[in-house]
This record gives sequence, structure tokens and C-alpha cells, in this order.
Amino acid sequence: MEKKILVTGGSGFIGSNFIRHTLQIRPGFQIRNLDALTYAGNPLNLENLPVDHQARYGFIQGDICDARFLKNLFEQETFDGVIHFAAESHVDRSIHGPEAFIRTNVNGTFQLLEACLAMWKQNGSPSDFRFLHISTDEVYGSLGKEGYFTEKTPYDPSSPYSASKASSDHLVKAYHRTFGLPVVVTNCSNNYGPYQFPEKLIPLIILNIIEQKDLPVYGDGKNIRDWLYVIDHCEALVTVFLKGVIGETYNIGGGTELENIRIVHLLCELLDEKLGRSGKNSSKSLIRFVTDRPGHDRRYAIDASKIERELGWKARFVFSEAIARTIDWYMDHMDWVNSVRSGDYRKWIENNYGKRK
Ligand SMILES: NC(=O)c1ccc[n+]([C@@H]2O[C@H](COP(=O)([O-])OP(=O)(O)OC[C@H]3O[C@@H](n4cnc5c(N)ncnc54)[C@H](O)[C@@H]3O)[C@@H](O)[C@H]2O)c1
Repeated sequence: MEKKILVTGGSGFIGSNFIRHTLQIRPGFQIRNLDALTYAGNPLNLENLPVDHQARYGFIQGDICDARFLKNLFEQETFDGVIHFAAESHVDRSIHGPEAFIRTNVNGTFQLLEACLAMWKQNGSPSDFRFLHISTDEVYGSLGKEGYFTEKTPYDPSSPYSASKASSDHLVKAYHRTFGLPVVVTNCSNNYGPYQFPEKLIPLIILNIIEQKDLPVYGDGKNIRDWLYVIDHCEALVTVFLKGVIGETYNIGGGTELENIRIVHLLCELLDEKLGRSGKNSSKSLIRFVTDRPGHDRRYAIDASKIERELGWKARFVFSEAIARTIDWYMDHMDWVNSVRSGDYRKWIENNYGKRK
């Protein structure tokens, strides 16, 4: 199947994994990656693509908030679909500086929808066009000990990040109901895997263990997330893009609920084995509980039965194996790590995790 797709935010963590994986599993797909290259976007994430993949890939530097830029782009090129990852994505940053989240996640999504709608109409409103909007389970707020998020769970976001993503989800749905734009929305749980910017929990802890730095854990460490290997997410997105029903939402999750402190202990154990550390030198001695994040949701857990039943997708990576692969990837890619850890990043880590409990 031949398709030319615009991916936004393809130089970030999930977007770059998506582009690499999709070029491999879909030889008929051509991909253009539109990315502003913020602190989270890194051109290195898409370096060294195999030669036949390079021929089907192109990079465009630009900002989804820039209406004129988007108009020019869509006048020059036509796409069979848009897969929208571009966002400010870190909850902690949204607490320190919410404005960038409103700008990109709300206004940027609005500008992108406007430009897509104009292109779609200009091309005769093709029914096989898709606007796939990538969102998060955080829009649903926090769960207690029991229950799961379904596609019918009411939105109840806690942070400026999740509120801005919730707003963008509503806008995307409204562009379908009001103007007929063929959209699909996905809400996914926490991802882990290669190319994740090292301010997020799993790469931060892996790297701090390697470098024998403090391992900051928020509050009592008992917040629960439902972890999904990034390649499983990418495969779910290709499935939804090709087979999802227009106007529908699909929840995506791995069914692997773990407390943050359990993840940190596991990473310590796996890395200590590799690094030959034990007893007094065990990495667990580096764990430091720090003041909790305000509005920190206690538990997320996804009910992914709709996408499994209706579209035939199911997570295939087992956590214990995929986390071991992820550790190996970071250990083998310290040059990548060093290149993304700029002075700006070091300042951010200090400001954010400086306060011990
Ligand atoms: N990481 C997760 O666990 C997770 C889980 C569920 C959903 N999501 C969603 O998936 C998407 C991707 O997440 P991620 O973790 O890869 O994020 P990321 O922060 O790693 O990457 C975001 C990318 O968007 C780009 N970008 C930011 N602002 C832009 C703008 N104005 N114009 C163009 N490009 C811009 C950045 O340069 C970067 O390449 C986000 O929409 C996020 O909400 C993430």
C-alpha cells in the first residue's frame, strides 16, 4: 500500500521510533518529518537509516504553531495522512512553565487542524485521509486502587501537560464532528525504550545508576504507571492509522502496572549485575526520596480491550525482556546520551530534583 505521510514531532522519542519502525515494516510508506527541534527533538535519533529507508524519508524543520509555514507546506506537498506527535511532553516542565504547553499542544494542534482541513478540502475531501492524533492516558486523571481507564472514562486532567493534551483531543474530535475531517485519537500509557530524553524516569535512573549519581524518587515512590514498550505503541499506531474507525478513540496500554519504586529497584538490580556491584556498593544506596510533584496522579491503568478486540492489536513485548533491551541500548549509546545532555538539561535536573525530602 503506497502512502505519503506527514509525521509531526518525529525527532522526539516516540516519533523517531515510529519513523524507524514504520519505514521498516511498511515499504510502501513515504514519510516526511515536520519538527521544530526543541530541546526534546534530536536529529541524531534518525541518523544512519538504512539506504532504502533514507530514500523514503525527508526532514522539514518547522513549527506547528506557524500557520503561514503550514499553509505553504500543504500547498507544495499533498499527504495521505498526518500523524501528530509534536507536543511539549514533560509533566514537570509543564508545572514550571505551562505556557509552552498551551502554545504547542493547544494552539499548535489547532493550527495543524486548520491547515489539514484546508488541504483535505482542496483535494476533494478524500475519505481515506486520516489525521491520527497521539495522546496520553493522563487526560483521564488518577485512578484509585481499582479500575481501568476505558475510552468512556470522563476527562479529569491534573497537570498543565495533561490539561493541554485534553484540550487538543477535544479540538481534534470537534474538527471531525463540525467539519467532517477524518480523525482518529489514541490515548496511550507510559512508554519506555530507546531514544527517550533522559529527563524521564527510566532513562534518568539508568544513566544515574551507571554514573553513580543520586536516584531521585518522588514522594513515597508508590505511584503506579502502566508501562508499554515503545515499539508496541508504534505498532498500535500503524494499526489505528490503517484500520481505525473515523471519529473513534482507542486506548493503548501494555497491562504492566508497576510502582515507580519497583522500577527503580529493578533497574538497580539489573544494572548491578552488569556492572558487578553488590553489598555496600549496591546502586539501591543511591535512592533519594524527593518532595512529591504537585498534583501527582497516583495510578494509571489502561483497559486496551477495544483496540485488541476491534483492530486485532496486542502488546507483544514482555516487560522483563524489553527493559533489559532498553538498558543495553543506553549502555551502547553513551555518545547519543552525551550529545542530548546539554547545559540546559543539567540546569533543569538541578532545579527539579535538587530538593531532598
Ligand atoms: N512518552 C510517553 O510515555 C507518552 C505516552 C503517551 C502519549 N504520549 C504523546 O506522544 C507524543 C510524543 O511524545 P514523546 O515522548 O515522543 O515526546 P518528546 O518530547 O520526546 O518529542 C516531542 C517532539 O515534538 C517536537 N516539537 C515540540 N514542539 C513542536 C512544535 N511547536 N512544532 C513542531 N515540533 C515540535 C520536539 O522537537 C520533539 O521532537 C506526545 O504528543 C505525547 O503527549 C507520550
